[in-house]
Amino acid sequence: TEFKVRLTRRLPTSLAALEQMASVEVWPERQPPTADVLQSKLAEVDGLLCLLTDPIDQELIAAAPRLKVISQMAVGFDNIDVAAATARGIPVGNTPGVLTEATADFTWALMMAAARRVGEGDRFVRNGQWQTWEPDLLLGLDIAGATLGIIGLGRIGQAVAKRAVGFDMQILYTGRHRCDPALEAALKATYVELAELLANADFVSIHTPLTPATQSLIGAAELRQMKSTALLINTARGAIVEPEALYQALISGQIAGAALDVTEPEPISPESPLLQLDNVTFAPHLGSASRATRKKMADMAIANLIAGLQGDRLPHCVNPEVY
Ligand code: GLV
Ligand code: GLV
Repeated sequence: TEFKVRLTRRLPTSLAALEQMASVEVWPERQPPTADVLQSKLAEVDGLLCLLTDPIDQELIAAAPRLKVISQMAVGFDNIDVAAATARGIPVGNTPGVLTEATADFTWALMMAAARRVGEGDRFVRNGQWQTWEPDLLLGLDIAGATLGIIGLGRIGQAVAKRAVGFDMQILYTGRHRCDPALEAALKATYVELAELLANADFVSIHTPLTPATQSLIGAAELRQMKSTALLINTARGAIVEPEALYQALISGQIAGAALDVTEPEPISPESPLLQLDNVTFAPHLGSASRATRKKMADMAIANLIAGLQGDRLPHCVNPEVY
């Protein structure tokens, strides 16, 4: 029997192995399919490979009676109603691990860019504003020796912390679990409550998945607890931070700046007042965007898809309770 699979976007890798066992239909456009279009195309589909831009809700899953596997090319899967998939016995795959280092690298790129005002400096030079060396031109913050607060010391949070060791930073972390003492010692990381982290960190970096517990985790009250000289870096999911509260904290000087690789919604609305602020450094969700990493993510997503079609256990399954 030949399987039918659908990919919601072209992928940066070869589909040869998949094409040997399935008829593959790839959404050809740059914009994601709308929910209606996607739903209308799932009636006969056995496997779905999707991206974080595709809302895979209960209705869509119900419209795919033959679906055997949902394979997401991302580590985060908050766009998928996993409970609805589990209720149908459909395994959901993701791509953990392969993007950890690239995402930690990019977190550092944003942290350093925000601390040392790289984006502002770039605009300053291009706009022809550079007249001379000045003792007080575009002064930023020291990173070496500063205190880094990591919210969520999972794979990515740990990789961010590992890099901070070379900058002689103090590391505070918080999260659902305390890490084991050997890891804390290796990273020189201290577990604290969120309030204590916010009150003491010069840089606060978010590395938790988006869940009901982390939705709007950083709102007005939390931003008020931060130092007025501190920067907030978000490379996780936009909805973890309340955008209106962030805007207020930035214009009132409650915090010094922010670096955002993710926003809610994505893309950020062109009307968002955050876009007017020079002390926000933006990136268009590029955390894992190195050539090698995106290929590994695509390959891993295909491996999950093939395993699901064959009825094998997915190499990386987010709902192993289906087995
Ligand atoms: C990207 O944000 C991912 O979850 O992989
Ligand atoms: C994601 O890979 C994480 O656990 O941080």
